[in-house]
Amino acid sequence: MMNVYDAVMGRRSIRKFSQTPILKEDLLDLVDCARMAAYPANVQPLKFAVVTEKEMLSEVFSCTKWAGYLENGTPEPEQRPVAYFVVLGDRNIKKGGDLQVENGAACMTVLLAAKERGIASCWLGALNREKLRGILSLPEHLEVLDIVALGYPAQDSQAVEMKDGNVKYYLNEDGVLQVPKRSLSEVLYKI
Ligand SMILES: Cc1cc2nc3c(=O)[nH]c(=O)nc-3n(C[C@H](O)[C@H](O)[C@H](O)COP(=O)(O)O)c2cc1C
Repeated sequence: MMNVYDAVMGRRSIRKFSQTPILKEDLLDLVDCARMAAYPANVQPLKFAVVTEKEMLSEVFSCTKWAGYLENGTPEPEQRPVAYFVVLGDRNIKKGGDLQVENGAACMTVLLAAKERGIASCWLGALNREKLRGILSLPEHLEVLDIVALGYPAQDSQAVEMKDGNVKYYLNEDGVLQVPKRSLSEVLYKI
């Protein structure tokens, strides 16, 4: 199995997927990994919903936005995710304050656990959460945080060194997504 370093370094957001389904046991593993993440004060105020059913997939898709920096970044119907991992905040457990730290811990854990299994992902934060709440028939105490889109990759993406502070990802001439990352020397303040 892939080690953590390779998962961290090799993971990229993928927005075009093959239509091969993900095994239920792999999806359950992702929930299990999210459950074990580090959470503030160990409160663990999250629930997780996994969507794989065909009609639900297209309803959830209608609540998403893709690749703001690309002209054609939205997946075509035959390139869409085959599963969505929905992170929910449980307000019966954590009543006040925001849940962004918890959300981030869960999403990042899922991205890496998926990568280890050869499953590609994209963290989605630009969401119509009101509509999602209805689609998922959520009870009052559950709040939609972010979603991780999942599937086997049908697109390549690689990190490239950032030039002139330009953060925008782009496609190269071979259609490979290029994701600018700040260099080690830029981000290292002191060691
Ligand atoms: C909180 C958060 C929200 C994001 N929301 C979206 C989104 O709504 N749509 C999308 O296509 N990508 C989204 N992304 C993916 C980012 O664009 C991506 O992580 C970034 O460009 C770096 O690329 P990389 O993940 O390949 O390293 C989101 C990422 C994060 C962390």
